[in-house]
Amino acid sequence: MPRQPPSYICEACGARHRQWVGRCDVCTSWNSIVEAPPSPVSVGGDVPSAPAVELADVPASSGERRSTGMPEVDRVLGGGLVPGSLVLVGGDPGIGKSTLILQIAANLAAGPAPCLYLAAEESAAQIRLRAERLGIAGRALFVYPETEVEAALGEARRLRAGVIAVDSIQTVRVPALDSAPGTVSQVREAAMTLLRYAKANRTPVFVVGHVTKDGTVAGPRTLEHLVDTVLYLEGEEHYAHRLLRCVKNRFGPAYEVAVLEMRSDGLREVANPSALFLAERDAAAPGSAVAVPMEGTRPVLVEVQALVAPTSYSLPRRLASGFDPNRLNMLLAVLTRRAGLPLADHDVYVNVVGGLRLREPAADLAVALAVASSFRGIAPGVRVAAIGEVGLAGELRSVPATTQRVEEARRVGFDQCLLPVGPKGQGAALGAFAAENLMQAIEMALA
Ligand code: TYD
Ligand code: MG
Repeated sequence: MPRQPPSYICEACGARHRQWVGRCDVCTSWNSIVEAPPSPVSVGGDVPSAPAVELADVPASSGERRSTGMPEVDRVLGGGLVPGSLVLVGGDPGIGKSTLILQIAANLAAGPAPCLYLAAEESAAQIRLRAERLGIAGRALFVYPETEVEAALGEARRLRAGVIAVDSIQTVRVPALDSAPGTVSQVREAAMTLLRYAKANRTPVFVVGHVTKDGTVAGPRTLEHLVDTVLYLEGEEHYAHRLLRCVKNRFGPAYEVAVLEMRSDGLREVANPSALFLAERDAAAPGSAVAVPMEGTRPVLVEVQALVAPTSYSLPRRLASGFDPNRLNMLLAVLTRRAGLPLADHDVYVNVVGGLRLREPAADLAVALAVASSFRGIAPGVRVAAIGEVGLAGELRSVPATTQRVEEARRVGFDQCLLPVGPKGQGAALGAFAAENLMQAIEMALA
């Protein structure tokens, strides 16, 4: 058989190229093109080929899902773990991926079938040490220090493992390929092999993946296309809480978020994140307002702080942490021009407490209110949450899921919300302070 000419693949985006080029013309990254494996690589665990089935005759999925033993994680997965699903858990090194996976594996091992933990990064002794911290005894949880995927799957078969955890996809390899672990071809092929095993045996597989500087799972972005579910564990270095965010889900709603807290004995679910983010708020201090961003499909109450001080620079300083600095500049311009706050000779610092990021325009009103409150030296009403987008004319615009946000605010004791009047006067109908523009809102809140 004539040898096929080699093809090339971009490590960054997975695009295929007929010849080597210095720059990928799909994703424009430099020096990311490598030789692709001779495809297709045939490895063990293939699904036996079956005849085509008429869609109407395909048995309906029984919808059976298994609980991970962590209700918040189940919620993010769309109601539990689906048999045969491949779940990628991505995140920065040291964020707690191994901890989370070990906790889930231990919970699942308590079920009918044992669990196989493929330790390709750490020794069994290191994992034992972590398990001790977590209070995990480790019955029916098998640690397998191995880097070859097929050997691991052989072991999974032998054990009749009900769940497999692979830590991490960047350190395992498929021996049929020459390239080193962590390269695009290895990561892809290892994931494909795991996927085939998962589907053929209806065994759920968790795969840990490290994230690179630019925020994608190292190696191929194609890994995200391959797997069924992508979860990211996010958090700030100096805070204990972590967000487990779903960005892709073939078996449920994407964009669900769970709040977890890293403690000395592992990750614990935070059932009431609003209380966590407001725990140390000094409501009597000026410069503090409460925003209600949506984290996934769930609203959360978060404190926004601002400090406004006369500047000693020719160009005043503007610093934002957890909020887009450009958006802050826009809000400051609106406050100056439409609400009459002379901020041009003041430094403005804005901080979202708890290391959270406010990405939605719905947080505009809270940020603007915090700035106005600091400038005037008056604290807003103790139990007022601010929800709304601020337009360039100083007008307030209603935002999606207003009712849900108001309900969450009420649940944690913020019975008065500051809202835009809204197209049909819905703001007032929700029993809130309803303002037409930013100026009015400030007068209401800082009366
Ligand atoms: P780890 O799960 O090893 O992170 P990853 O697999 O994402 O690289 O966790 C790393 C950090 O978590 C480590 O710095 C120690 C801390 N940690 C705790 O605070 N409490 C715990 O119970 C455990 C196991 C780890
Ligand atoms: Mg780890």
